[in-house]
Amino acid sequence: MLSRLALALALVFSSQLVHASNYSTWMALSIMSRSQGVLASSNDTSALLQAGVTQKAFTRLIEQYPSSSSTPGIAAYLKSSVESVAGPVTNATKDLTYAMDRLSSGNALMNLYAKTGNATYRTAYDGLRASININSRNAEGGMWYFVYPNWSYLDGMYSLAPFYAYYDALLDPHNGTALADMMHQLDLLWTHCAFNASANGTAAGLLVHGYDDSKTAVWADPVTGASPHVWGRSLGWYTMALVDTLEILPARLHPTDWALLHTRFGQLADAIKTAVDPASGAWWQILDQPARAGNYIESSGTAMFVYALLKGVRLGYLQDGGKNERKYTDIASRAYEYIVDTFVVNNGNGTLGYNGTVTVCSLNSTASYEYYVGQPILYNSPLGSAPFVLASLEYESLTGAEL
Ligand SMILES: *[C@@H]1O[C@H](CO)[C@@H](O)[C@H](O)[C@H]1NC(C)=O
Ligand SMILES: *[C@@H]1O[C@H](CO)[C@@H](O)[C@H](O)[C@H]1NC(C)=O
Ligand SMILES: *[C@@H]1O[C@H](CO)[C@@H](O)[C@H](O)[C@H]1NC(C)=O
Ligand SMILES: *[C@@H]1O[C@H](CO)[C@@H](O)[C@H](O)[C@H]1NC(C)=O
Ligand SMILES: *[C@@H]1O[C@H](CO)[C@@H](O)[C@H](O)[C@H]1NC(C)=O
Ligand SMILES: *[C@@H]1O[C@H](CO)[C@@H](O)[C@H](O)[C@H]1NC(C)=O
Ligand SMILES: *[C@@H]1O[C@H](CO)[C@@H](O)[C@H](O)[C@H]1NC(C)=O
Ligand SMILES: *[C@@H]1O[C@H](CO)[C@@H](O)[C@H](O)[C@H]1NC(C)=O
Ligand SMILES: *[C@@H]1O[C@H](CO)[C@@H](O)[C@H](O)[C@H]1NC(C)=O
Ligand SMILES: *[C@@H]1O[C@H](CO)[C@@H](O)[C@H](O)[C@H]1NC(C)=O
Ligand SMILES: *[C@@H]1O[C@H](CO)[C@@H](O)[C@H](O)[C@H]1NC(C)=O
Repeated sequence: MLSRLALALALVFSSQLVHASNYSTWMALSIMSRSQGVLASSNDTSALLQAGVTQKAFTRLIEQYPSSSSTPGIAAYLKSSVESVAGPVTNATKDLTYAMDRLSSGNALMNLYAKTGNATYRTAYDGLRASININSRNAEGGMWYFVYPNWSYLDGMYSLAPFYAYYDALLDPHNGTALADMMHQLDLLWTHCAFNASANGTAAGLLVHGYDDSKTAVWADPVTGASPHVWGRSLGWYTMALVDTLEILPARLHPTDWALLHTRFGQLADAIKTAVDPASGAWWQILDQPARAGNYIESSGTAMFVYALLKGVRLGYLQDGGKNERKYTDIASRAYEYIVDTFVVNNGNGTLGYNGTVTVCSLNSTASYEYYVGQPILYNSPLGSAPFVLASLEYESLTGAEL
C-alpha cells in the first residue's frame, strides 16, 4: 500500500515523469510578463520578427483555447503587438529598409482589420503587400532578404509565403501573378539551397541557410551560390512556412501549386526526421555536422521542427503510419519532452524561462562552422519561446490535454 502511494506521489511530483499540460498558455503569459513580442517604440524595428512570430503563436493559442480564462488577456496583448507594428510598416518604401521579417505581421494585421474595421490596419497590410512588389530582386527574380545584394535566405519565407497566400486568398484571388511569384520564391530557395549530399550524405534532403545568386560572397558555392551549412533555425522557418502556407492556400483553387508544396513538405519532413540526433532526440544547431566539437542541440530550431511535424500530421499532410519506421509523432513528441526537460526553466514565481536559443546567425559573416557554433545563446529569446508555444499547442492537441 505504502509503496503504491509513494509511487503515485513520485509520479505527481517528479518533473521528469509528469509534464504540465498547459505549457502553451504558461509560456505565452511568461512572454507577456517580459513585455516581449511588442515593439518597444516605433524605432524598435529589429524586433519585427519577434512580434510577428509571437502574433502567430498567440493567434493559434486563442483558436485552440477560445474559452480559457487566460484568453482575453492574451487576445488584448496580441492586439497591442499588432498595433505596435502598424505605424512602422505602413510606408512601403520605408519597409525596404527592414528585412523581409517585416511581412510576418501581415496576417495578424489582416485579422485585426477584419475584426475592427479600423483603416489603420488595412493601410499597414497594404503597405506591406506593396513592399513585396518593390523589394529588390536578383537576376532570377529572387527577393533579397535584406540589404545584401542578390542574397536570399530561407528565413524570409516564413514571413513572405503565408502572408502572400493569405492576402491572395482573401483579397486578390484572381491575381495569378502573385501566387506564381510566391511559388517562385519558395522554389528558388528549394533549388539553390539543396544540401550537396555528395559533400556530406548525412544531411541529404535538407536546405542550407541561403544563397548568393551572383556567387560572389566569400561563402558562395561556385555552382549554386549556396552557403555551406544547414542552420537549424533557418530551416525551421522554411519548414513552418510550408506547413502554414499549405493550410492557407486553397487546394481546390490551386491544386497543382498545393500538390507541389505538399510533396516538398513531405520530403523535408522525412529529411528532418532522419537528421534528428538519436541520443537526445532533438536537433543540432548545425544539422550537417552532427556531434562535431562545438555543435549543440538548439532550442528554437527544435521547437520549430516539433511544431511543423505535429501540425503536418494533425492536418493530414504527413502520414504517421509506416511499418518498421519511427513515426513523425514519436520523433516530435520525444523532441518536445527533451525541450521541456532541458530548456524550459520554472522561475518559481509563476513564470517560465526559455533557454538554449542562438541569438542570430547572419550570412554577413564567414558563414563557417566556427561562426555558427560561436554565436552566443540568448536566454528568453522570443524566437525560441514563441515557437515553443506553437509546438506546445500541437503537443497538447496530440495528447488530448485540455485547459
Ligand atoms: C500550469 O500547470 C502547473 C501545474 O502543472 C501550475 O503549477 C501552473 O501554475 C500552471 N500555469 C498556468 C499559467 O496556468
Ligand atoms: C527614434 O529614433 C530617432 C532618430 O534616431 C530619435 O530621434 C527618436 O527619439 C527615437 N524615438 C524613440 C521613441 O525612441
Ligand atoms: C485605429 O487604430 C489605431 C492604431 O492602433 C488607433 O490609434 C486608433 O485610435 C484606432 N481608431 C479607432 C477609430 O479606433
Ligand atoms: C515613405 O518613406 C519614404 C522613404 O523613407 C519617404 O521618402 C516618403 O516621404 C514616405 N512617404 C510618406 C507618405 O510618408
Ligand atoms: C547582383 O546581380 C546583378 C544581376 O542581376 C548584377 O548586375 C550585380 O552586379 C549583382 N551584385 C553583386 C553585388 O554581385
Ligand atoms: C498581382 O500580383 C503582382 C505580383 O505580386 C503585383 O505586381 C500586381 O500589382 C498584383 N495585381 C493587382 C491587381 O493587385
Ligand atoms: C557537390 O560537392 C561535390 C564534392 O564536394 C562537388 O564536386 C560538386 O561540384 C558539388 N556540386 C554542386 C552542385 O555544387
Ligand atoms: C559529414 O558529417 C559527419 C558527421 O558529423 C562528419 O563526421 C563528417 O566530417 C562530415 N563530412 C564533411 C565532409 O563535412
Ligand atoms: C520571475 O523570476 C524571474 C527569474 O528570477 C525574473 O527574471 C522575473 O522578473 C520574475 N518575474 C516576476 C513577474 O516576478
Ligand atoms: C541555460 O543553459 C546554460 C547552458 O546549459 C546554463 O549554463 C544556464 O545556467 C542556463 N540558464 C538557466 C537560467 O537555466
Ligand atoms: C555586415 O558586416 C560588416 C562587417 O562585420 C559590418 O560592418 C556591417 O555593418 C554589416 N552590415 C549590416 C547591414 O549589418
